[in-house]
Amino acid sequence: MIFRTLVKKSSLESYLLLSRKCSNKAQTVTLIPGNGIGPEIADAVKKIFAVSEVPIQWESVDVTPVKAPDGTSQIPQAVIESFKRNKVGLKGPLATPIGTGHRSLNLAIRKTFSLYANVRPCKSLEGYKTLYNDVDLIIIRENTEGEYSGIEHIIVDGVVQSIKLITEVASTRIADFAFKYARENKRKRVSAVHKANIMKKSDGLFLHCCRLAAERNKDIDFEEMFLDTACLKLVSNPARFDVLVMPNLYGDILSDMGAGLIGGLGLTPSANIGDKGAVFEAVHGTAPDIAGQDKANPTALLLSGVMMLKYLGFPVHASNIQTACFETIKDGKCRTIDLGGNSKCSEFTDEICRKLQNLMK
Ligand code: NAI
Repeated sequence: MIFRTLVKKSSLESYLLLSRKCSNKAQTVTLIPGNGIGPEIADAVKKIFAVSEVPIQWESVDVTPVKAPDGTSQIPQAVIESFKRNKVGLKGPLATPIGTGHRSLNLAIRKTFSLYANVRPCKSLEGYKTLYNDVDLIIIRENTEGEYSGIEHIIVDGVVQSIKLITEVASTRIADFAFKYARENKRKRVSAVHKANIMKKSDGLFLHCCRLAAERNKDIDFEEMFLDTACLKLVSNPARFDVLVMPNLYGDILSDMGAGLIGGLGLTPSANIGDKGAVFEAVHGTAPDIAGQDKANPTALLLSGVMMLKYLGFPVHASNIQTACFETIKDGKCRTIDLGGNSKCSEFTDEICRKLQNLMK
């Protein structure tokens, strides 16, 4: 295996960072291709990674839910074993039935492996015109509790209760993560997004923990912002934001808003980070409207893979792949339909591979 030392500098180089020390050890990664467009975009990522010669081996697993003895649906044991072995995964989107049916497997994976920090970067792409060309923000979403705790019950017919769980432990953990992330990535400010004026106890506790974390991290600026104000400012002046930290549901919603600001869901990657491992995935879902038609944009999953390579200590391969992808979008000759082009997912993938081969010459 040849390890490339050449890094072509990209102007967009540093925003996906979660880096570790450089590694040259081959690494096995759990791959969950997922549902809908998942298998198509996972194939695209595998093809591009192969061209990059990064020493990654894929261990592909099927996450079709299995029935437990108590009748609930669960992640198959093979997935749990694979992740425990490899500690790192790349995941395609998984479908979750609306209203009824099994609980979200995404939530199950995040909870099972305590992947408490969901990191979602949004950065304007050079050469791809949107309303703003200077967005460069990171949403850090608490990933294990809040409204996503799944604690819901019927009190009487016509009345249901859903519990928003906020704990000091999880809020402190995510607040500290946000400041650490800001420092390690040379970011200047952390904004805590909340509704503590209305949810005085739950968001109040979250905000309190953020304030204490700010006291411990005085080298990073700190501000507090109501969720509604954050929405207004995100769509009117997104460049003012740097790192944002927030409870689970707010992070889910604001990161789709961030995706809209830079060109859509086809472009936004994410990382689910825990103390013992990490799963990288696109922000988007299974896109059932375009599944199986070779129309999906693989960029979001590919950039999630780039984040994974940095996390694993392969910054050169990561940088080459990222540069090839961004240059493909920038030169505009081969873009997927969501980006206003007419290229298929496979054609876009081939173009990235061509650019990558040129970079590596
Ligand atoms: P979605 O993200 O799948 O699709 C929303 C819109 O964005 C659609 O028009 C789709 O065609 C487009 N889109 C999304 N990704 C794209 C890509 N890579 N390239 C081009 N266009 C893209 O959201 P939706 O329709 O609300 O959810 C569909 C399913 O996905 C649901 O079952 C939902 O629960 C699941 N989902 C799973 C997620 C995950 O596994 N992390 C995250 C979000 C949703």
